[in-house]
Amino acid sequence: MSVSQLDPAGGSGSQAERQGSNPLRTYKIASIPADGIGPEVIAAGLQALEALARRDGGFELDVTEFDWSSERYRKTGALMPEDGRDQIKDFDAIFFGAVGAPDIPDHVTLWGLRLPLCQGFDQYANVRPTKILPGITSPLAGVGPGDLDWVIVRENSEGEYSGIGGRAHRGLPEEVATEVSIFTRVGVERIMRYAFKPAQSRPRKLLTVVTKSNAQRHGMVMWDEIAAEVGKDFPDVTWDKMLVDAMTVRMVKSPRSLDTIVATNLHADILSDLAGALAGSLGVAPTGNIDPERRYPSMFEPIHGSAFDITGKGIANPVATFWTASQMLEHLGEADAARRLMRAVEKVCADGILTPDVGGDATTRQVTDAVCEAIRGENI
Ligand SMILES: NC(=O)c1ccc[n+]([C@@H]2O[C@H](COP(=O)([O-])OP(=O)(O)OC[C@H]3O[C@@H](n4cnc5c(N)ncnc54)[C@H](O)[C@@H]3O)[C@@H](O)[C@H]2O)c1
Repeated sequence: MSVSQLDPAGGSGSQAERQGSNPLRTYKIASIPADGIGPEVIAAGLQALEALARRDGGFELDVTEFDWSSERYRKTGALMPEDGRDQIKDFDAIFFGAVGAPDIPDHVTLWGLRLPLCQGFDQYANVRPTKILPGITSPLAGVGPGDLDWVIVRENSEGEYSGIGGRAHRGLPEEVATEVSIFTRVGVERIMRYAFKPAQSRPRKLLTVVTKSNAQRHGMVMWDEIAAEVGKDFPDVTWDKMLVDAMTVRMVKSPRSLDTIVATNLHADILSDLAGALAGSLGVAPTGNIDPERRYPSMFEPIHGSAFDITGKGIANPVATFWTASQMLEHLGEADAARRLMRAVEKVCADGILTPDVGGDATTRQVTDAVCEAIRGENI
């Protein structure tokens, strides 16, 4: 694996063009570690990817690191350059850490880096697998590996995070702010269609559509109607509908009753943090921001944020980043390596090599070294 820093001009073009006489399958990865524990977990993820590429022998990753971050904002007034998306649009994937800093408002950092990438590259499907890994204890009594195994599909381009709204009469008693949720037929239909597919491909063929159409009688009612329309094209999938408030109860009380879940941008954002916590920690929860049509690079990241409280302590859990690296390999067509990475992670967790958030005393480095060692091992 080669890693270069801030060399966006180097080698654009399609993967096939770039391969030329190179027998290796080469993937161009834009690495954006960004803030807080982001650089710590992304370094761990790259180390594991390098071990995998060596073990596999059939592919290599050409990684370019970008310094887009809160630090860049402090120096230049922008988290990423104005032509940032142009710089990375020909990459095969983006490997992202986390963005957010205690001295900068969260809406500035989120709208300055992560959302322009997700929305600008129309990564409309946000895929968040969650399961209890061997060796990790769920806070739910009597619930272990196999009892909680979900895929949450989050609408990632519109809904409550459309960015539509405004403020007037700032600072005056009559100040007003609006935050408008946008639901388009195209947006809802494509995410429903996307979500029914993993539901169909998983053994239980079960989908739960999360809604709030009792109180939100326009967008959410259309959401339900389109779910029913799309469902007709997937007759072998059993699907049901849950109000988001009741869904939190079901996730806690009956985790075995759920399999694939589809929800709006805001609802899935909240539910997937709950899912991560129920699976043991936010530190084990991954996400893929996918452009299913592959017009643009998709982006892979842990769902956690920059975790100010543990930054620099060397104890950030790298498992979520390994898992999202596995999602990235799967997306790139390297399914064997993707599965090998998850087998290595499961072995290391089962062996009890765990960071403090999941009850262990290992450091990020110790977990990462153990995963790399497992990748190199015979039985993985
Ligand atoms: N995708 C993103 O970039 C993203 C996501 C969420 C929050 N944020 C930003 O991150 C900052 C902090 O947000 P927050 O505190 O609400 O959420 P957070 O996810 O950063 O942290 C919540 C808690 O989980 C713990 N945690 C998170 N990841 C962990 C890991 N890998 N290993 C061990 N423990 C871990 C933290 O220590 C903290 O106690 C804010 O600026 C927020 O806007 C960014």
